[in-house]
Amino acid sequence: MSRIAYVAGQYLPHRQAAVHIEDRGFQFADGVYEVISVVGGRLVDAERHLQRLNRSLGELRIPAPLGDAALGIVLREVIRRNGVDTGIVYLQVTRGAAPREHAFPKAAKPTLVVTSRRSRPPDPRLGDDGIAVITIPDIRWQRCDIKSIALIANVLGKQAAREASAYEAWQVDRNGEITEGTSTNAWIVTEEGAVVTRAADTAILNGVTRLAIFDIIGREGYRLVERPFTVAEAKAAREAFLTSTTADLLPVVHIDGVPVGEGRPGPLALKLRAAYFAHAASAA
Ligand code: PDD
Repeated sequence: MSRIAYVAGQYLPHRQAAVHIEDRGFQFADGVYEVISVVGGRLVDAERHLQRLNRSLGELRIPAPLGDAALGIVLREVIRRNGVDTGIVYLQVTRGAAPREHAFPKAAKPTLVVTSRRSRPPDPRLGDDGIAVITIPDIRWQRCDIKSIALIANVLGKQAAREASAYEAWQVDRNGEITEGTSTNAWIVTEEGAVVTRAADTAILNGVTRLAIFDIIGREGYRLVERPFTVAEAKAAREAFLTSTTADLLPVVHIDGVPVGEGRPGPLALKLRAAYFAHAASAA
């Protein structure tokens, strides 16, 4: 079955789906995106993703190409046409196509692209054994709260992780504090059992998975503290983990080669991971 994409108003096979060479996404990375999980053919936490999309668009003054209801119909139609039961849907909105000039064009229509694909079953070893992260300087811009398609620093960081045989790179600000991973949010569990993650300031993306974990923590009565933590604190933490739409929740067992706790997934991370899977399945 050939994959179908939605591009500027049409559903097309990927090989025919294209955007203009002067699209500002291509020329300036002038656009935003979302990645939403699909479980049982349904979108997980769609409302929060669309809220964040609208916020990102608003911050960049890009008009929304469709209202939420119409966009929801397109997302579900792309999932249906691709026969995706478990996977992701990707959507990107750019400021549109116009002759290359940095300032906003007077008359450009935003470009909307939606794709969807099945995901391979996640390697169970990632959850069972945990993963390794490295730390790298955070060289990104100062508005990481916007889900911008300008991801070159994230791309370089993820590649550095791959070359170090690590799953992710945790980015570190000038204070020695971890902001987040290149495509994931970062968490630790302290000796006292508090779950710590950075507050959603302009240095991180306010992850939808992060918010789902907040709900679970509140419901289960664990202690949540939103504050920055340093690399040294993370290495000495009882547990560590990361979250995102594509990674779900993965225990972090090594940071720069240093074992976290006993170098095995921590009990709280595993409980939260199981609860998150239950949450994602219940959305379906
Ligand atoms: N990344 N931080 C960054 C920099 C991210 O790019 C992402 C998501 C997250 C986690 O957000 P969420 O829980 O809403 O997925 C945090 C997506 C999955 C990506 O770029 O593929």
